This record gives sequence, C-alpha cells and structure tokens, in this order.
Amino acid sequence: MVTESSPIGVFDSGMGGITVLKQLVNLMPNEKYIFYGDSANAPYGKKSSDTVRKLTMSTAAKLYEMGCKCLVVACNTATSVAINVLRDTYRDIPVIGIEPALKPAVLANEGGHILVLATNTTLHEEKFNTLMNRYESKARISTLAAPGIVEFVENGITCGTQLEEYIADILSPYQEDVPNAIVLGCTHFPFVADTIKKVIGNQVTLYDGGKGTAASTHNKLDEYLLSSREPSAGDTEITFCNSDPDPAKTLLMKQFFDSYVCP
Ligand code: DGL
Repeated sequence: MVTESSPIGVFDSGMGGITVLKQLVNLMPNEKYIFYGDSANAPYGKKSSDTVRKLTMSTAAKLYEMGCKCLVVACNTATSVAINVLRDTYRDIPVIGIEPALKPAVLANEGGHILVLATNTTLHEEKFNTLMNRYESKARISTLAAPGIVEFVENGITCGTQLEEYIADILSPYQEDVPNAIVLGCTHFPFVADTIKKVIGNQVTLYDGGKGTAASTHNKLDEYLLSSREPSAGDTEITFCNSDPDPAKTLLMKQFFDSYVCP
C-alpha cells in the first residue's frame, strides 16, 4: 500500500530521464525519488517497439515492487510504445508519460517552421503522428531522427568537436531553412542544447517536455491524494539505480543530475 511518503519512480533508457528528474525535484523538492536508468539496454530508439515495450514493463515492475507511489516514464520512446499498457497494468497509481513538446512550440510559433528531433521509434509510432496531425495546420512541422546524440550522452559527452560535427551533419539540411523552433523530443537531448544552439543559431528556440511532465506529475499526485506533506528539509532524497553494473554509470547519472541546469 503506497502512501504520500512513498517515493516517486522515474525511469528512462539511460541518462536522459535525469533532465526530467531535475525538473521534478525543482518543482517538488520535498518528495523522495528512485531513478532507474536502463543503460545496459540503451539506446531504445534503435530497438523494435516490442523490445522497448518489454524493457519498459520490466523496469516499471521493479519500481512498483520497490513501493513507488507513481511512475514517471521519463522517456519519449518508452512512452510512445508502452504508456497504454503501463496504465492498464498499474491502475492503482498514477503513470505519467512524456511526449515531444510540440504543442507549446506550435502555439508560440504559429505559421512558423518547427523541427522535431526524436528517436526513430518515437517519430514512427502512432502517438506522435496523432499529435503531429493535430498541429499540422498551424505550423510547418519537420521531423528528424537523431539517434547518435543518445550514444554521445550515454558516454558522458555533451560538448566537443565530435558531437558538434555530428549535430552539424544531421542539421545541415536546416542551415538554409532555419526553423523557428526545435522540439527536443528525446530526454537525452536537453543535455546537448548548447551544442545544438551553437550549430543552428541562438535565435532558434528549443522546447522540451520535462517541465510539463513535472507539472503533470504534481497534478496527478494531488488528484490521487499522494503528494508529500513533509516540509522540504535540505537535500532531496534520490536513489539512483542503473541496469549497467559498472559503478561509473551510476556516478555519471549523479554527475548529470548535479550539473544539469533546467531551461
Ligand atoms: N531518452 C529516450 C527518449 O526520450 C530514448 C533514448 C534512446 O534510448 O534511444 O526517447
């Protein structure tokens, strides 16, 4: 039986979900958190939807067994393929997903050009295509898969020549046709926001779904009467877990958490 003092479970294919965790902690510092990164199986974006669904269900089961009062799927790819089955499986607690922040990007740039960067899986799943159809009449929407960024981030690389060259290469078709906004539709991508801006130009606004996901989590916890009533006292309690047994991965997650500054 979960209570308001039970932890919030947050998970991703690896490091990316830390960008969402930071938004959650900023908004709700008095909650406890368990973060699970499935780095041993990252990147999800290169796996079949079936495999990603199985991996997602297996991680969710671990967090549920650990007594989490809510599950935050801090991964666009996992949300795309598994949010419905997760909600069907865990009916007693809130399950919150993330989706590319297309809505705020379009509303702030009506009639403009929006580029959505995400994994191949996210871009091909029905969930994103339904979202895109909803906004297609309000802006020109382009999509681009950027799987390489996930691998750079998983290896702790968020800047430098190699990453810059990769991003410049994938964004080369947009150097002449610069978008008004870029949606970072993968939770790993906010870590490389500065490099993306360096390549495409500072005038392009970047959007990610982390803040919205944190706000939805806050609302759901209130709705289920599960928000912590503890006053915030110093450092937030966060347990970091990773499927990769190498302790360097857990250390990297902590370093990412400490250094990431929410937009
Ligand atoms: N961070 C994930 C997302 O938001 C997936 C990255 C991956 O493992 O391919 O889509």
